[in-house]
Amino acid sequence: MLVRDLRQVVSPAGRRAPVRGDQLRELDVLEEAYVLCDGTRIEGVGRMRDLRLDLEMEEVDGRGLCAVPGLVDCHTHAAFAGDRVEEFSLRAGGASYEELHAAGGGILSTVSATRAAGEAELTQAVALHRDWLLHAGTTTWESKSGYGLDRETELASLRAIRDAGGVPTWLGAHAVPPEHPDADAYLDFVLSEVLPEAARVAEAADVFLERGAFDAAQARRYLEACRVAGLSLRLHGDQFTESGAVPLAIELGARSVDHLEATGAGGTRALAASDVVGVLLPASALFLGRPMPPARALVDAGAAIALATDFNPGSAFCESLPLVCSLAATQLKLSPAEALAACTVNAAYVLGRAATKGRLAAGYDADICLLDAPDWRYLAYHLGGHDVAAVIQGGAVAWSRAAY
Ligand code: NIG
Ligand code: FE
Repeated sequence: MLVRDLRQVVSPAGRRAPVRGDQLRELDVLEEAYVLCDGTRIEGVGRMRDLRLDLEMEEVDGRGLCAVPGLVDCHTHAAFAGDRVEEFSLRAGGASYEELHAAGGGILSTVSATRAAGEAELTQAVALHRDWLLHAGTTTWESKSGYGLDRETELASLRAIRDAGGVPTWLGAHAVPPEHPDADAYLDFVLSEVLPEAARVAEAADVFLERGAFDAAQARRYLEACRVAGLSLRLHGDQFTESGAVPLAIELGARSVDHLEATGAGGTRALAASDVVGVLLPASALFLGRPMPPARALVDAGAAIALATDFNPGSAFCESLPLVCSLAATQLKLSPAEALAACTVNAAYVLGRAATKGRLAAGYDADICLLDAPDWRYLAYHLGGHDVAAVIQGGAVAWSRAAY
Protein backbone atom coordinates (compact mmCIF):
# COMPACT_ATOMS: atom_id res chain seq x y z
CA MET A 1 0.00 0.00 0.00
CA LEU A 2 1.16 3.50 -0.86
CA VAL A 3 -0.14 6.48 1.12
CA ARG A 4 0.74 9.29 -1.26
CA ASP A 5 0.72 13.07 -1.56
CA LEU A 6 0.69 13.62 2.19
CA ARG A 7 1.21 17.18 3.37
CA GLN A 8 3.52 16.03 6.13
CA VAL A 9 4.89 12.75 7.41
CA VAL A 10 6.02 13.16 11.01
CA SER A 11 7.79 10.72 13.31
CA PRO A 12 9.94 10.80 16.44
CA ALA A 13 13.52 10.76 15.13
CA GLY A 14 16.12 8.03 15.61
CA ARG A 15 15.61 4.44 16.71
CA ARG A 16 16.20 4.59 20.46
CA ALA A 17 13.60 4.11 23.16
CA PRO A 18 12.67 5.55 25.50
CA VAL A 19 13.57 9.09 24.41
CA ARG A 20 14.21 11.68 27.12
CA GLY A 21 15.41 15.25 27.57
CA ASP A 22 16.11 17.14 24.32
CA GLN A 23 15.55 13.96 22.26
CA LEU A 24 11.85 14.22 23.07
CA ARG A 25 11.68 17.23 20.78
CA GLU A 26 13.51 15.64 17.85
CA LEU A 27 11.14 14.80 15.03
CA ASP A 28 11.62 13.85 11.40
CA VAL A 29 9.23 16.01 9.36
CA LEU A 30 8.90 15.44 5.59
CA GLU A 31 6.71 17.74 3.49
CA GLU A 32 4.91 16.51 0.33
CA ALA A 33 5.67 12.96 1.25
CA TYR A 34 4.59 9.32 1.15
CA VAL A 35 4.55 6.22 3.34
CA LEU A 36 5.11 2.96 1.51
CA CYS A 37 3.96 -0.23 3.24
CA ASP A 38 4.86 -3.80 2.41
CA GLY A 39 2.26 -6.04 3.99
CA THR A 40 2.04 -5.18 7.66
CA ARG A 41 5.36 -3.26 7.77
CA ILE A 42 6.55 0.13 6.61
CA GLU A 43 9.00 -0.22 3.74
CA GLY A 44 9.95 3.42 3.62
CA VAL A 45 8.96 7.05 3.92
CA GLY A 46 10.13 9.81 1.62
CA ARG A 47 9.39 12.90 -0.47
CA MET A 48 6.97 12.46 -3.40
CA ARG A 49 9.55 13.87 -5.81
CA ASP A 50 11.91 11.00 -4.92
CA LEU A 51 9.27 8.25 -5.29
CA ARG A 52 10.19 5.57 -7.84
CA LEU A 53 7.62 2.82 -8.27
CA ASP A 54 7.75 -0.09 -10.65
CA LEU A 55 4.84 -2.07 -9.16
CA GLU A 56 1.10 -1.54 -9.19
CA MET A 57 -0.24 -1.22 -5.69
CA GLU A 58 -3.16 -0.11 -3.57
CA GLU A 59 -3.02 3.64 -3.13
CA VAL A 60 -4.46 5.88 -0.44
CA ASP A 61 -4.92 9.51 -1.44
CA GLY A 62 -3.20 11.57 1.25
CA ARG A 63 -3.89 15.01 -0.22
CA GLY A 64 -4.62 17.45 2.58
CA LEU A 65 -3.60 14.97 5.29
CA CYS A 66 -0.70 14.73 7.74
CA ALA A 67 0.59 11.32 8.87
CA VAL A 68 1.81 10.62 12.39
CA PRO A 69 2.46 7.18 13.93
CA GLY A 70 -0.63 5.30 15.04
CA LEU A 71 -1.06 6.53 18.62
CA VAL A 72 -0.16 4.22 21.51
CA ASP A 73 -2.30 4.34 24.65
CA CYS A 74 -0.27 2.61 27.35
CA HIS A 75 -2.74 3.06 30.25
CA THR A 76 -6.48 2.38 30.06
CA HIS A 77 -9.10 0.56 32.10
CA ALA A 78 -11.32 -0.51 29.18
CA ALA A 79 -12.70 -3.74 30.73
CA PHE A 80 -15.76 -2.49 32.54
CA ALA A 81 -19.52 -2.64 32.30
CA GLY A 82 -22.00 0.08 33.24
CA ASP A 83 -21.09 3.68 33.88
CA ARG A 84 -20.59 6.19 36.70
CA VAL A 85 -22.71 9.03 35.39
CA GLU A 86 -24.53 9.31 38.74
CA GLU A 87 -21.22 9.65 40.59
CA PHE A 88 -20.04 12.15 37.99
CA SER A 89 -23.09 14.28 38.74
CA LEU A 90 -22.44 14.06 42.50
CA ARG A 91 -18.82 15.07 41.99
CA ALA A 92 -19.94 17.98 39.85
CA GLY A 93 -21.93 19.09 42.91
CA GLY A 94 -18.87 18.95 45.16
CA ALA A 95 -18.43 15.33 46.42
CA SER A 96 -14.81 14.15 46.26
CA TYR A 97 -13.58 11.05 44.42
CA GLU A 98 -11.86 9.70 47.55
CA GLU A 99 -14.99 10.20 49.70
CA LEU A 100 -17.14 8.33 47.19
CA HIS A 101 -14.55 5.54 47.09
CA ALA A 102 -14.46 5.30 50.90
CA ALA A 103 -18.29 5.10 50.96
CA GLY A 104 -18.21 1.97 48.76
CA GLY A 105 -19.00 3.83 45.54
CA GLY A 106 -16.33 4.61 42.99
CA ILE A 107 -14.29 1.65 41.77
CA LEU A 108 -16.41 -0.85 43.76
CA SER A 109 -19.62 0.22 42.02
CA THR A 110 -18.01 -0.61 38.66
CA VAL A 111 -16.86 -3.92 40.17
CA SER A 112 -20.52 -4.81 40.91
CA ALA A 113 -21.63 -3.85 37.39
CA THR A 114 -18.77 -5.75 35.76
CA ARG A 115 -19.34 -8.91 37.82
CA ALA A 116 -23.05 -8.78 36.95
CA ALA A 117 -22.41 -8.35 33.22
CA GLY A 118 -20.99 -11.79 32.41
CA GLU A 119 -18.27 -12.59 29.90
CA ALA A 120 -20.25 -12.03 26.67
CA GLU A 121 -21.40 -8.56 27.64
CA LEU A 122 -17.96 -7.66 28.96
CA THR A 123 -16.36 -8.80 25.70
CA GLN A 124 -18.78 -6.58 23.77
CA ALA A 125 -18.04 -3.62 26.01
CA VAL A 126 -14.28 -3.98 25.52
CA ALA A 127 -14.73 -4.18 21.73
CA LEU A 128 -16.83 -0.99 21.81
CA HIS A 129 -14.16 0.80 23.87
CA ARG A 130 -11.48 -0.46 21.45
CA ASP A 131 -13.44 1.13 18.58
CA TRP A 132 -13.66 4.44 20.45
CA LEU A 133 -9.89 4.37 20.92
CA LEU A 134 -9.34 3.53 17.25
CA HIS A 135 -11.52 6.41 16.05
CA ALA A 136 -9.36 8.74 18.15
CA GLY A 137 -6.24 7.52 16.29
CA THR A 138 -5.04 4.83 18.71
CA THR A 139 -3.73 1.66 17.06
CA THR A 140 -1.99 0.05 20.06
CA TRP A 141 -3.64 0.04 23.46
CA GLU A 142 -3.12 -1.47 26.82
CA SER A 143 -5.98 -2.22 29.16
CA LYS A 144 -6.01 -3.29 32.73
CA SER A 145 -8.42 -5.65 34.38
CA GLY A 146 -9.28 -4.58 37.93
CA TYR A 147 -13.09 -4.36 37.90
CA GLY A 148 -13.56 -8.06 38.60
CA LEU A 149 -11.45 -8.68 41.67
CA ASP A 150 -12.71 -12.26 41.69
CA ARG A 151 -11.18 -15.13 39.79
CA GLU A 152 -13.82 -15.49 37.11
CA THR A 153 -14.27 -11.82 36.24
CA GLU A 154 -10.55 -10.92 36.36
CA LEU A 155 -9.74 -13.76 33.94
CA ALA A 156 -12.72 -12.90 31.71
CA SER A 157 -11.51 -9.26 31.62
CA LEU A 158 -7.98 -10.26 30.57
CA ARG A 159 -9.31 -12.57 27.84
CA ALA A 160 -11.70 -9.88 26.57
CA ILE A 161 -8.82 -7.38 26.32
CA ARG A 162 -6.58 -9.87 24.51
CA ASP A 163 -9.36 -10.95 22.13
CA ALA A 164 -10.14 -7.33 21.23
CA GLY A 165 -6.48 -6.82 20.27
CA GLY A 166 -5.33 -5.02 23.41
CA VAL A 167 -2.29 -5.57 25.59
CA PRO A 168 -3.60 -7.04 28.89
CA THR A 169 -2.33 -5.88 32.27
CA TRP A 170 -3.51 -7.65 35.41
CA LEU A 171 -4.65 -4.98 37.90
CA GLY A 172 -5.49 -7.56 40.53
CA ALA A 173 -4.70 -5.04 43.27
CA HIS A 174 -7.07 -2.20 42.34
CA ALA A 175 -9.37 -2.19 45.40
CA VAL A 176 -10.36 -4.59 48.17
CA PRO A 177 -13.72 -6.15 47.29
CA PRO A 178 -16.32 -6.43 50.09
CA GLU A 179 -16.12 -10.24 50.52
CA HIS A 180 -12.58 -9.94 51.98
CA PRO A 181 -11.98 -8.49 55.46
CA ASP A 182 -8.87 -6.48 54.51
CA ALA A 183 -6.20 -5.90 51.88
CA ASP A 184 -3.84 -8.60 53.22
CA ALA A 185 -6.56 -11.26 53.19
CA TYR A 186 -7.55 -10.22 49.67
CA LEU A 187 -3.91 -10.48 48.50
CA ASP A 188 -3.70 -13.99 50.04
CA PHE A 189 -6.63 -14.89 47.79
CA VAL A 190 -5.58 -13.28 44.49
CA LEU A 191 -1.96 -14.34 44.65
CA SER A 192 -2.84 -17.98 45.22
CA GLU A 193 -6.10 -18.28 43.24
CA VAL A 194 -5.85 -15.78 40.36
CA LEU A 195 -2.18 -14.98 39.63
CA PRO A 196 -1.20 -18.37 38.11
CA GLU A 197 -3.94 -18.16 35.45
CA ALA A 198 -3.73 -14.35 35.01
CA ALA A 199 0.00 -14.63 34.25
CA ARG A 200 -0.80 -16.81 31.24
CA VAL A 201 -2.81 -14.01 29.58
CA ALA A 202 -1.43 -10.75 30.97
CA GLU A 203 1.91 -9.18 30.04
CA ALA A 204 2.20 -6.93 33.09
CA ALA A 205 0.85 -6.45 36.60
CA ASP A 206 -0.33 -3.19 38.13
CA VAL A 207 -1.27 -2.05 41.65
CA PHE A 208 -3.09 1.01 43.05
CA LEU A 209 -0.66 2.18 45.73
CA GLU A 210 -2.64 4.82 47.60
CA ARG A 211 -4.21 5.74 50.89
CA GLY A 212 -7.46 3.73 51.02
CA ALA A 213 -6.21 1.13 48.51
CA PHE A 214 -2.88 -0.76 48.95
CA ASP A 215 0.09 0.47 50.97
CA ALA A 216 3.73 0.15 49.95
CA ALA A 217 4.30 -3.13 51.81
CA GLN A 218 1.22 -4.70 50.23
CA ALA A 219 2.16 -3.36 46.79
CA ARG A 220 5.65 -4.84 47.18
CA ARG A 221 4.24 -8.24 48.11
CA TYR A 222 1.86 -8.23 45.13
CA LEU A 223 4.45 -7.02 42.61
CA GLU A 224 7.19 -9.37 43.78
CA ALA A 225 4.87 -12.36 43.35
CA CYS A 226 3.84 -11.10 39.90
CA ARG A 227 7.45 -10.66 38.87
CA VAL A 228 8.21 -14.26 39.85
CA ALA A 229 5.28 -15.30 37.63
CA GLY A 230 6.97 -13.55 34.67
CA LEU A 231 4.97 -10.32 34.49
CA SER A 232 6.51 -6.91 34.00
CA LEU A 233 5.59 -4.38 36.65
CA ARG A 234 3.65 -1.11 36.70
CA LEU A 235 2.22 1.01 39.50
CA HIS A 236 -0.52 3.58 40.01
CA GLY A 237 1.38 5.95 42.25
CA ASP A 238 1.31 9.46 43.75
CA GLN A 239 -2.24 10.10 42.46
CA PHE A 240 -3.46 11.73 45.69
CA THR A 241 -0.56 11.25 48.13
CA GLU A 242 3.14 10.43 47.89
CA SER A 243 2.98 6.97 49.47
CA GLY A 244 6.25 5.41 48.32
CA ALA A 245 5.36 4.36 44.77
CA VAL A 246 8.33 6.05 43.08
CA PRO A 247 11.06 4.46 45.24
CA LEU A 248 9.30 1.08 45.07
CA ALA A 249 9.01 1.28 41.26
CA ILE A 250 12.72 2.08 40.99
CA GLU A 251 13.77 -0.63 43.44
CA LEU A 252 11.71 -3.31 41.67
CA GLY A 253 12.74 -2.20 38.17
CA ALA A 254 9.14 -1.47 37.13
CA ARG A 255 8.36 -0.45 33.55
CA SER A 256 6.43 2.58 34.70
CA VAL A 257 4.87 4.50 37.54
CA ASP A 258 1.67 6.20 36.47
CA HIS A 259 -0.26 9.34 37.60
CA LEU A 260 2.33 11.32 39.66
CA GLU A 261 -0.04 14.24 40.34
CA ALA A 262 1.29 14.42 43.92
CA THR A 263 4.98 13.83 43.13
CA GLY A 264 7.37 16.36 44.66
CA ALA A 265 10.92 17.43 43.87
CA GLY A 266 12.53 14.34 45.42
CA GLY A 267 10.39 11.93 43.42
CA THR A 268 11.03 13.90 40.25
CA ARG A 269 14.80 13.71 40.77
CA ALA A 270 14.70 10.01 41.61
CA LEU A 271 12.60 9.14 38.57
CA ALA A 272 14.84 11.18 36.28
CA ALA A 273 17.86 9.20 37.43
CA SER A 274 16.11 5.87 36.75
CA ASP A 275 14.89 3.79 33.82
CA VAL A 276 11.29 3.82 35.04
CA VAL A 277 8.94 5.73 32.73
CA GLY A 278 6.63 8.30 34.31
CA VAL A 279 3.22 7.89 32.66
CA LEU A 280 1.24 11.13 32.86
CA LEU A 281 -2.56 11.13 32.72
CA PRO A 282 -3.72 14.75 32.46
CA ALA A 283 -7.28 13.79 31.43
CA SER A 284 -7.66 12.11 34.82
CA ALA A 285 -6.32 15.15 36.71
CA LEU A 286 -8.70 17.35 34.70
CA PHE A 287 -11.71 15.07 35.20
CA LEU A 288 -11.18 14.95 38.98
CA GLY A 289 -10.18 18.60 39.28
CA ARG A 290 -6.80 17.61 40.72
CA PRO A 291 -3.38 19.23 40.28
CA MET A 292 -1.52 18.34 37.10
CA PRO A 293 1.63 16.16 37.34
CA PRO A 294 5.00 17.99 37.26
CA ALA A 295 5.61 17.16 33.61
CA ARG A 296 7.94 20.02 32.73
CA ALA A 297 10.13 19.38 35.78
CA LEU A 298 10.29 15.67 34.95
CA VAL A 299 11.32 16.28 31.32
CA ASP A 300 13.83 18.99 32.24
CA ALA A 301 15.38 16.72 34.88
CA GLY A 302 15.82 14.02 32.21
CA ALA A 303 13.01 11.60 33.07
CA ALA A 304 11.45 9.41 30.40
CA ILE A 305 7.76 10.27 30.24
CA ALA A 306 4.77 8.87 28.40
CA LEU A 307 1.23 10.22 28.02
CA ALA A 308 -1.93 8.10 28.20
CA THR A 309 -5.69 8.60 28.59
CA ASP A 310 -6.36 6.47 31.73
CA PHE A 311 -9.72 5.79 29.99
CA ASN A 312 -12.11 4.44 32.67
CA PRO A 313 -15.66 5.16 33.86
CA GLY A 314 -14.73 6.97 37.09
CA SER A 315 -11.68 9.19 36.91
CA ALA A 316 -11.20 9.73 33.16
CA PHE A 317 -14.08 8.93 30.82
CA CYS A 318 -11.95 9.97 27.87
CA GLU A 319 -10.52 7.80 25.07
CA SER A 320 -8.87 10.61 23.12
CA LEU A 321 -5.07 10.85 22.98
CA PRO A 322 -5.42 13.96 20.77
CA LEU A 323 -7.26 15.63 23.67
CA VAL A 324 -4.52 14.40 26.03
CA CYS A 325 -1.96 16.05 23.70
CA SER A 326 -3.94 19.31 23.95
CA LEU A 327 -3.85 19.03 27.75
CA ALA A 328 -0.14 18.25 27.60
CA ALA A 329 0.48 21.45 25.66
CA THR A 330 -1.84 23.71 27.64
CA GLN A 331 -1.55 22.28 31.18
CA LEU A 332 1.71 20.32 31.30
CA LYS A 333 3.78 22.83 29.29
CA LEU A 334 4.99 20.16 26.90
CA SER A 335 5.54 21.08 23.25
CA PRO A 336 3.49 19.26 20.60
CA ALA A 337 6.69 17.40 19.62
CA GLU A 338 7.27 16.21 23.20
CA ALA A 339 3.64 15.17 23.49
CA LEU A 340 3.82 13.20 20.25
CA ALA A 341 6.92 11.26 21.37
CA ALA A 342 5.25 10.61 24.72
CA CYS A 343 2.18 8.94 23.19
CA THR A 344 4.03 7.05 20.46
CA VAL A 345 7.58 5.79 20.95
CA ASN A 346 7.72 6.14 24.75
CA ALA A 347 4.29 4.61 25.25
CA ALA A 348 5.35 1.74 22.99
CA TYR A 349 8.42 1.28 25.21
CA VAL A 350 6.20 1.01 28.29
CA LEU A 351 4.38 -1.82 26.51
CA GLY A 352 7.61 -3.55 25.42
CA ARG A 353 6.89 -2.79 21.75
CA ALA A 354 9.32 0.02 20.90
CA ALA A 355 11.09 -2.04 18.23
CA THR A 356 7.94 -2.20 16.09
CA LYS A 357 5.53 0.53 17.24
CA GLY A 358 5.58 4.30 17.67
CA ARG A 359 7.51 5.52 14.62
CA LEU A 360 6.94 6.01 10.91
CA ALA A 361 10.17 4.53 9.59
CA ALA A 362 11.29 1.51 7.59
CA GLY A 363 10.82 -1.74 9.50
CA TYR A 364 8.18 -0.47 11.93
CA ASP A 365 4.61 -1.77 11.82
CA ALA A 366 2.41 0.01 9.28
CA ASP A 367 0.22 1.75 11.88
CA ILE A 368 -0.58 5.30 10.73
CA CYS A 369 -2.84 8.02 12.05
CA LEU A 370 -3.96 10.40 9.27
CA LEU A 371 -4.95 13.91 10.32
CA ASP A 372 -7.14 16.14 8.19
CA ALA A 373 -5.19 19.28 9.06
CA PRO A 374 -2.72 21.69 7.44
CA ASP A 375 -0.07 20.98 10.08
CA TRP A 376 0.46 17.87 12.25
CA ARG A 377 0.53 20.05 15.39
CA TYR A 378 -3.25 20.37 15.08
CA LEU A 379 -3.09 17.06 17.00
CA ALA A 380 -2.52 19.20 20.13
CA TYR A 381 -3.68 22.59 18.88
CA HIS A 382 -7.26 21.65 17.98
CA LEU A 383 -8.82 21.31 21.45
CA GLY A 384 -11.53 18.67 21.28
CA GLY A 385 -11.18 18.63 17.49
CA HIS A 386 -11.94 15.65 15.29
CA ASP A 387 -9.00 15.80 12.94
CA VAL A 388 -8.33 12.05 12.79
CA ALA A 389 -9.58 11.26 9.28
CA ALA A 390 -8.43 7.66 8.91
CA VAL A 391 -6.39 5.04 10.71
CA ILE A 392 -4.20 2.42 9.08
CA GLN A 393 -3.33 -0.60 11.21
CA GLY A 394 -0.99 -3.37 10.09
CA GLY A 395 -0.98 -2.02 6.52
CA ALA A 396 -4.79 -1.92 6.09
CA VAL A 397 -7.33 0.87 6.57
CA ALA A 398 -8.93 0.00 9.91
CA TRP A 399 -11.24 3.00 10.04
CA SER A 400 -11.93 6.13 8.05
CA ARG A 401 -14.25 9.05 8.53
CA ALA A 402 -17.03 9.10 5.94
CA ALA A 403 -15.65 12.09 4.06
CA TYR A 404 -12.31 13.64 4.87
O1 NIG B 1 -6.25 5.26 37.26
N1 NIG B 1 -6.91 5.30 40.61
C1 NIG B 1 -7.18 4.16 40.36
N2 NIG B 1 -7.70 3.67 39.25
C2 NIG B 1 -8.23 4.42 38.15
C3 NIG B 1 -9.61 4.89 38.37
C4 NIG B 1 -10.55 3.79 38.44
C5 NIG B 1 -11.97 4.21 38.64
O2 NIG B 1 -12.25 5.29 39.20
O3 NIG B 1 -12.82 3.41 38.26
C6 NIG B 1 -7.31 5.56 37.76
O4 NIG B 1 -7.62 6.75 37.94
FE1 FE C 1 -5.42 4.18 35.85
